[in-house]
Amino acid sequence: MQGDWAATTLRLNFYRNCTQLHYVYNSIAITLRDHVMNVVGIDVGYSNLKLAYGPADGALKTVIRPAGAAPKEHFGSRFDGRSQDDFLHVQVNGQEFVAGVSTDRAEMWERSLHADYAKTDSYKALFNAGLLLTEMKEIDLLVTGLPVSQFQDESLRADLEARFSGEHQVTKKRTVNVKKVKVVAQPIGGLLDYVNEVEEGPEDQRITDEHRILVVDPGFYSLDWVLVSNGQLQRQSSGTSIKASSVLLEQAGIFIAEEHGAKVSVETLENAIRSGKESILLMGERVELAPFLKKASETLSSVTATSIQKALRVESMSPDVIVLVGGGSSFFQQAIQEAFPLLKVVTPKNPVLSNARGFWLLGGASV
Ligand SMILES: Nc1ncnc2c1ncn2[C@@H]1O[C@H](COP(=O)(O)OP(=O)(O)OP(=O)(O)O)[C@@H](O)[C@H]1O
Ligand SMILES: [Mg+2]
Repeated sequence: MQGDWAATTLRLNFYRNCTQLHYVYNSIAITLRDHVMNVVGIDVGYSNLKLAYGPADGALKTVIRPAGAAPKEHFGSRFDGRSQDDFLHVQVNGQEFVAGVSTDRAEMWERSLHADYAKTDSYKALFNAGLLLTEMKEIDLLVTGLPVSQFQDESLRADLEARFSGEHQVTKKRTVNVKKVKVVAQPIGGLLDYVNEVEEGPEDQRITDEHRILVVDPGFYSLDWVLVSNGQLQRQSSGTSIKASSVLLEQAGIFIAEEHGAKVSVETLENAIRSGKESILLMGERVELAPFLKKASETLSSVTATSIQKALRVESMSPDVIVLVGGGSSFFQQAIQEAFPLLKVVTPKNPVLSNARGFWLLGGASV
């Protein structure tokens, strides 16, 4: 009897402890859930500003804006006197900038097409515009990327982390606090995005640690590539070419001039592509873009694809699969497939956003 009673008391105590523990666990979980972890992936490119943001365990939102930014004085007013509703007004070191507009909208302002882009005021203005677009006041983790060659320079990485962390005066009235910043190599974002996209799909499409993956990111100013094997970036098999989309769009403009008599600027082509237009109006005439983009791509993209192939051959590195990310994917797809005829060349959906989406996924997994 005595024994039974002792056993029952023990069991009750055990259950009470469990209940208390359960209560403690529950309240920790509630406290954690009470603080929503805000994560932002931001990809400030030479052509487009791309954002992926939202709570770490919640719904993801994405935005693409043109990467033009200049001091306010460089922008004219509309002919009808109305305000420009696509302008984002931000502060940079106390100066008012307009950001997130096409680069040809600013008068007397040279577009940055050099490696020091990340150090310019325009870049900071785009960063602030990105913070503004998230509508967040506090960001727990912000993940961004640098082109591969710059990522390999530790001081550049540290400098960007330091500049992006802390309190930012984005407009006269609004500050945004960035608690932590992580900088990765840009194409790694795109790879994570693709890995995530195929994770639930058929097994033969999934990407694992066993794969050697060549990630190619054809941007506007630079085309970057990295080889990832054993889950690690192989620095010696990574590189950058500046024969990227800008060169190809320039050539498409020249081909249009040869047939239609007038040249089309790179910015006109970028704007048309960004807004999904298949043709442009040139001297009152409709010009279909696809044939000219295709011809420019056939003329130029093989040079870049061959240089990647040569670089990998020198390192005797052969990948198992090629993941193409970034807005210029479709321009380079065919040439890369021809340079590596035995390999599968895959691309995530809406590749222009893939780096930013991958940054967000990476951020969400590490908070
Ligand atoms: N849906 C799209 N929206 C915007 N640009 C697109 C789109 N599809 C293709 N492009 C084109 O893809 C090219 C690369 O765009 P992307 O945004 O990847 O470059 P970026 O990241 O700004 O440049 P970089 O990587 O050199 O800094 C541009 O020339 C752009 O015109
Ligand atoms: Mg890019």
